[in-house]
This record gives sequence, structure tokens and C-alpha cells, in this order.
Amino acid sequence: MSIRYTPPGHVRDVEAFRARWRATGPGLDCDVALEGADGPLGSPIEAFGKRLTNRWAVHPMEGWDGTTDGRPTDNTLRRWRRFGRSGAALVWGGEAFAVEAGGRANPNQLYGDPAVDVAASLASLRDEVVAGRAEVGYGAEPFALGLQLTHSGRFARPTAAGPLPRVAYRHPVLDARFGVASDDLVFTDIELEAIAERFVDVARIAHEVGYDFVDVKCCHGYLLHELLGAHTRDGPYGGSFENRTRLFRGIVEGVRDACPGLEIGCRASIVDTHPFAAGDAGVGAPVGWESHLPYRYGFGVDEDDPRRPSFEEPLAFLRMLRGMDIRVVNLSVGSPYYNPHIQRPATYPPSDGYLPPDDPLAGVAFHVDAVRRCKQAVPELVVVGSGYTYLQEWLPYVAQFEVRHGHADFVGIGRMMLSYPELPADVLAGRPLQRKRVCRTFSDCTTGPRHGMLSGCFPLDDHYRSLPEAGRIKQVKKELDR
Ligand SMILES: Cc1cc2nc3c(=O)[nH]c(=O)nc-3n(C[C@H](O)[C@H](O)[C@H](O)COP(=O)(O)O)c2cc1C
Repeated sequence: MSIRYTPPGHVRDVEAFRARWRATGPGLDCDVALEGADGPLGSPIEAFGKRLTNRWAVHPMEGWDGTTDGRPTDNTLRRWRRFGRSGAALVWGGEAFAVEAGGRANPNQLYGDPAVDVAASLASLRDEVVAGRAEVGYGAEPFALGLQLTHSGRFARPTAAGPLPRVAYRHPVLDARFGVASDDLVFTDIELEAIAERFVDVARIAHEVGYDFVDVKCCHGYLLHELLGAHTRDGPYGGSFENRTRLFRGIVEGVRDACPGLEIGCRASIVDTHPFAAGDAGVGAPVGWESHLPYRYGFGVDEDDPRRPSFEEPLAFLRMLRGMDIRVVNLSVGSPYYNPHIQRPATYPPSDGYLPPDDPLAGVAFHVDAVRRCKQAVPELVVVGSGYTYLQEWLPYVAQFEVRHGHADFVGIGRMMLSYPELPADVLAGRPLQRKRVCRTFSDCTTGPRHGMLSGCFPLDDHYRSLPEAGRIKQVKKELDR
């Protein structure tokens, strides 16, 4: 596949990158020298009841590699140990942990099966993070560890037999794409309330095992995110803003009652767009948006022009969180299923994606801009930013700038964690970056799972490069290129 836009890694030095980044959008800029632990990325901050000593966060990153009864495997444990090896002070969620079997996005997702010892699984994952931190000399520093709780809703695929979507409301575009052909697949209010109880059950176990917080996940099109946009749903969980946030609020109240002292965070897709699809010559476009006006099928989307985000309700949501004493949020945008070019900006799209409609740097800028607006509007919130991996070797320069200027409190890292988990530790120690390990956004970590395989960094991590799946992914990509 030919590259449509020059990747940041091809830019010769930080000054050249800076010129390009500044040209990407108004107000964008980066530092030109890294300051290690003495700079903004090493400045202390209070979060989740702890005084943390750096501004790096590890985003939740699933590996599609659990057992079918929801327990971690050696690959899962290895990944969590590598999260620890980052030295990041905040390990946000580890990975999406489904609160019940039917809420899994794949048959190998970790989940809370009442028949297995979930506490032992969660403890083993936490122990790996602790061990990883010790390996890189961070054993004595405080860190905060959370568990991301989820129900996959529309994107549920709990068995190898195929998708089993359940939705918050009927959607004019996504229903056809993801096999929703009947109102019977819309969750009833009673079913939603039962799911809320499962969130509380799993939070209780995470608390007992010593996790600092749970993330009540509202991002990427999964159930609680979809509910935020359930304008067209009848009853207590649809329609008004108050109704659309009711289940989320109920879960938070339930967790607070059941787990006094457990902190709560929220990862939210704070803004969104109309779903994209491959248009002319395979380039992504919000195909057919004109037929769905006013657009009432999402959260943080402009009703009159759903190609654009709207910040009105997202800011109300963040103020609501603040009012509920949720003080730390992790902001993402969109969904990997219907607008991956903004959710995970990449040089090479995943196999179910499309050619980038824009320079992927614009996707990173979309994240950065959203986080800046939210932080400015609700400055009391501690905010984690997302979408930085595409910046490649220039990631720390942008990260340091954003934190220095108070645009974000933490910089979270997703895909880069799979290829080069020690990047934060290297930056904090003032060591040069290991360029050969920098993620080049080949999207194999997404393409693998889309074809029923596990996820990992097949191009750069020897552990995955040597697996048979690496060859199968190459084959899949070759066939798509034909
Ligand atoms: C393989 C893979 C697994 C992911 N798993 C999760 C997950 O479990 N929960 C979540 O909120 N986001 C998940 N994400 C999204 C990332 O956390 C992150 O938002 C995204 O990759 C963009 O950040 P980046 O540019 O640093 O990669 C995943 C992304 C990838 C590529």
C-alpha cells in the first residue's frame, strides 16, 4: 500500500517536525528539547488520592488473548508487566474488562465470570505491573492502577460463532454494518439495570484486590458511550441529557455504596462524528451524512453537520462528573469501528478501515484540540490525553509542550506501549529514544483481532514477530492490497 502522507518519522529533525505540526492547526506547537524528569513530564500531581511523580499514563490496551472463561494468559501477563516497565505513574485501566460474558467484544476478552476466581486474575495482573515497575527502577515510586469496566453492547462478539450485538437504540448506519436487524436487540431498561449491577460486582472485586480506581468506560461506541447518544430511545435511559446519563450515574452511585474508598475515573469518547466508510478510491468519508439530519444518533456530534463535533453536551457531561466528585478523566474521541482515522491516527489503516481522508496528523490534532477545550472549560478536572502514538519520535516533544502549558495533565500512550513500553522511562531518564522500537502505526495490532487473532506488535516486538499469526496477518494484508 502506498503512503498518502509523509509520516512524522520521515521528518529529519524536531524543527522540521515543529514546522509541520504548527501548520496542522491553529495553536499547535511542540517543545524542541526534552527536559527529562526535571521538566513538565516529571512534575508531581495529585490523582486518584495519590501524589504521582510523572505525567505519563498507559492507556487501556486489550490483547484478545484471555482464556475463554475470562482469565489472563501468559501474553496478557507479559503485556501488563510491560505496562509497568513504562514507569508511567498512571496505569489507566490496563485493558477493557467485560462485566459479563455477553459484554465481551471478542471471545478472548477478560471478563468477570462468576465461576472463576476473578480476584486471583486481577491480583496476578496487578502483580505484573508492580514487577515491571521494579525492573525499571520505579519500584519505590507511587503509582495509580485502575481497571477499565465495560460492556461492548453493539460491538459484542462473545463467542467464536460471530457478533452478538445488543444496542441502546437503532442506528441508521451502524445497524446495517454490524448486523442489528431487529428491535429485539435493543436492551430493555431492566436488562440495562442488571448490567449496571454487574459493573458494581466487578468493581467490588477490583477494590478488594487493591486497585486504586475503576474506569466506568464511556468510549469507542461501547454500551455506556452509546447510551450517552441515545436521543431516540424512549423511557428513563433515553431522550434528555439527564436520562441518557442515568445509567452511568446509577453505576457510579452503586460503586460508591459498595466500595467506599475506591476511586472512580471515566474514559469517554468526548466528541465524535458521523460514521466513516471507504468512499471514492477507498478514501474514508462520512458517507451519506446528508440523509440523517438532524443527526440524533451520537454524543458530541453537531446535529446539523455531523461531520463536525459539538462540545456543548460533552462539557455538560464533564461538569456533571465534577459534580459527582469524579476528578480524573481520560479523553478519547470517536470509535475504532466507524472513524478509526481520528480514534487511532495511522499511516496504514487497519484491514476494516479506509485510506486516511486527511493527514493523520490532523487526527492527532483533533484529539489535542478536544482535550485543550475540555481542560480549559473544566480546569478542576485532571485530564489524560490520547491519540499521541502517530507522532512517533516527536511524541515526547508534543507531550512536554501540552503538559507545560496546562493543556493536559497526563499524556496517555496506547499503541506505542506495545512496541516500546519503556519510552516514558527513557524520556524521564533523559536517555535518547530507541528509534527502532518506535511504533510506525502499521495497524497490525488492530488487523489481527479483526481476523480472530490476538493483538500485539507483530512488526517490532520479537515475541509476536515469531508467532504464526505474524505470517497470517501479512497474508491478510497482501490479499487486501490486490
Ligand atoms: C490493540 C488495541 C487495543 C486497545 N484496547 C483498548 C481498550 O481495551 N480500552 C480502551 O479504552 N481503548 C483501547 N484501545 C485504544 C487505545 O487505548 C488508544 O486510545 C488508541 O490506541 C489511541 O492512542 P495511541 O495513539 O497512543 O495509540 C486499544 C487500541 C489498540 C490499538
